[in-house]
Amino acid sequence: MSDATTPPLVYDPSGVMIRETGLSPGDLAWLAPRLDAARREVLADLDLWRRGGPVPEAKQPLDAGFADLPDRLLEEYRRDASQSELGRILATAARLRAEVDRVVILGIGGSYMGARALFEACCHPYHNELTRQERRGVPRIYFEGNNVDTSAALALLDMLRGDRQHRWAIVVISKSGGTLETAVAFRLFLNLLRTQTEDQPDRLRHLVVPVTGQSGRLRDLANAIGCTATFPIPDGVGGRFSVLCAVGLLPAAIMGLDVVRLLEGAARMNHRFRTDPVGANPVLDYVGVSRMMEVRRGATIRVLATWGKRLEAVGLWYDQLLAESLGKDGQGATPLTVVNTRDLHSRGQQHQEGRRDKLITNLYAEDDAGPHALRVGRSDLDQDQLNPLADKTLADILRAAREGTNQAYRDDRRPTADLRLPRIDESSLGELFQMLMLATVVEGRLAGINPYGQPGVEAYKKNMNAILRGT
Ligand code: PA5
Repeated sequence: MSDATTPPLVYDPSGVMIRETGLSPGDLAWLAPRLDAARREVLADLDLWRRGGPVPEAKQPLDAGFADLPDRLLEEYRRDASQSELGRILATAARLRAEVDRVVILGIGGSYMGARALFEACCHPYHNELTRQERRGVPRIYFEGNNVDTSAALALLDMLRGDRQHRWAIVVISKSGGTLETAVAFRLFLNLLRTQTEDQPDRLRHLVVPVTGQSGRLRDLANAIGCTATFPIPDGVGGRFSVLCAVGLLPAAIMGLDVVRLLEGAARMNHRFRTDPVGANPVLDYVGVSRMMEVRRGATIRVLATWGKRLEAVGLWYDQLLAESLGKDGQGATPLTVVNTRDLHSRGQQHQEGRRDKLITNLYAEDDAGPHALRVGRSDLDQDQLNPLADKTLADILRAAREGTNQAYRDDRRPTADLRLPRIDESSLGELFQMLMLATVVEGRLAGINPYGQPGVEAYKKNMNAILRGT
């Protein structure tokens, strides 16, 4: 692995192990045999899925294929370079970067949240406002088809209608190919692009890149358009576990992110998951602590407290992963992402003094600010009395807020844990994504909940279609 020296992600639950929570490191050791058994089951699921044999009814659906996806994609890329899946993704992304100035990414749920998380974490916070040169040739990125929202869709369509040179493309992502929100948006945006490229019949098929399952309506549509590049979502990789296949990798590569490092980070986490013992294994420790807090201490709400805006969409990606995977059979903790210090001024009061039903996990980077230190600065207008803080940076203030908040929680016996990334980059995010996906399936196996599939989401779809189609 090329970046073996990269410092690892750290999961530190010491803030949970305060005397009054009733949990101690010994409890984690007590749970270790069950955590080990759940790990073995997850690895056995992967073997079962790889063999492609019959899946026992109790295990269905079994979407275990995400687990070794990073290792498989990297291996294939090293072997077959441009002929590999990753090679094709990189080539298509490079072509789009050269040919267009805007990319509209259509998808919902697991078919978009990972890409959005990567965009917000790794790209310039005002990316779309920058000139092409400042963006280093990366197109402007828009997310649509993730809702039913007339004003948002209309505004984007109007803007693209004004693009006289038609330098924009569509990446449409749907595993089933039949999700109504995405399909309707695709029809709207495709119609506009077809009209704009009417006089160049060959152009459309280069400007539409579908990412979809082996069969389905979107696959049929892609064939009818004759799209020059289409990417598969492998069978056995469920929507919310798909960020490390073309679903997340193609958008990431278009954004100019280093997808190899992303996959290497994930592969590193796979290795740690397989080999490290309880007490030094971020996946198993996170599951053990979260589960014990839920079952023994009634912490049914899992707050992921992100520090700084860049990790908010990562938190929202995790909200979906946890909620759709384990919110079944009347069970499953409730995920809640907050952004601090922003939400200290909205939810902070409740988290400090409300019901004792929360476990707060802080997610932040050691290197909050990167190379850019922004100081408060000295001013002759010191009515705000900030001159004593003149040399402090925003990163110093954020750190003080984080430490102060956690101290206040501890003083009131409110448990916290820390998930620390060395920095916010592709490598750390790859580790984090893989850690949280593995943790979700381990917890499912531990709790006897099938983490795959989302039968509960079907009810609204069925009703909506019946209402619309009068069936
Ligand atoms: O996790 C899941 O499977 C879901 O959130 C799906 O990603 C979401 O419903 C979108 O489905 P599709 O990709 O089939 O359009």
